Amino acid sequence: MRVLVTGGTGTLGRYIVDRLLGAGHEVRVFTRRSLPKLQLGAEPAHGNVLEPAALARAMSGMETVVHAATGRRRIYDTEVYGTRNVMKAAEEALVDHVVYTSIVGCDRNPFFSYKAKVAAEAAVEESPVPSTIVRITQFHELVDGFLTALSRVPAVLALPRGVRLQPIAAGDAAQHVARVAVGKPVGRTAEVGGPEVRALDDLARTWLAATGTRRRIVHVPVPGGSVKAYRAGSALNPDRAVGTTTWDDWLAARYVPST
Ligand SMILES: NC(=O)c1ccc[n+]([C@@H]2O[C@H](COP(=O)([O-])OP(=O)(O)OC[C@H]3O[C@@H](n4cnc5c(N)ncnc54)[C@H](OP(=O)(O)O)[C@@H]3O)[C@@H](O)[C@H]2O)c1
Repeated sequence: MRVLVTGGTGTLGRYIVDRLLGAGHEVRVFTRRSLPKLQLGAEPAHGNVLEPAALARAMSGMETVVHAATGRRRIYDTEVYGTRNVMKAAEEALVDHVVYTSIVGCDRNPFFSYKAKVAAEAAVEESPVPSTIVRITQFHELVDGFLTALSRVPAVLALPRGVRLQPIAAGDAAQHVARVAVGKPVGRTAEVGGPEVRALDDLARTWLAATGTRRRIVHVPVPGGSVKAYRAGSALNPDRAVGTTTWDDWLAARYVPST
């Protein structure tokens, strides 16, 4: 199968490209980088999801598109206008199936970037192109990055109280997305998540031990409804624990003690 992966240089996308290449598919990676470092066998297609002409060129001859590009800075533009552009280009290129990666609970949490995901999902669903939306829980990689950033403050690790997560390794999530991409479009799929539901405090304690970081966990109030939604379990779906790599396993592989 010929598959275009937007976001194929990102945390999730790199693994999706690996899984698809490993299964013998032809993979083209849509990227803004002029000299992207891609896996052997992957073909680059240069462009930005905000440029319809670049998307049209990249989609030429493709059967399936995995749309996993997301913007950290201009998230609304990349997600909403970008996804509309992706769906329009896919329609014009007669693509058979678009797979869009979204986030578990994005419609149950007022976090600003989740609003963009919900609007992008609507753009996918409104398009005549057959599609599948895969909602995924937070990646281990994201939790690691979040805790690393918080630990830049000395002495304490300031966390919101009562948050529970079900993190998944990006590689495990990619395995699922790649399988969906080579299957038939099914509209919205069941959500997918990691193997365990854990309190953020507990994830943080394990992270502190694994990284050898000395910080005292303290709780800070966070205004707005987002933390309240996390506390209520908006980011969880234990019935769809697709990932097998636990947080502890992932940390052990990521932070191998130096000898
Ligand atoms: N992070 C999580 O915990 C998590 C959880 C659930 C679902 N998801 C979803 O999984 C998907 C991938 O997330 P990620 O964390 O892997 O992202 P990421 O590591 O931040 O990578 C973002 C990717 O998007 C591309 N990109 C950004 N802006 C672009 C633009 N304007 N035009 C074209 N490409 C652009 C980047 O490619 P270049 O820099 O090469 O152009 C990069 O490959 C997203 O849909 C996200 O919402 C993430």
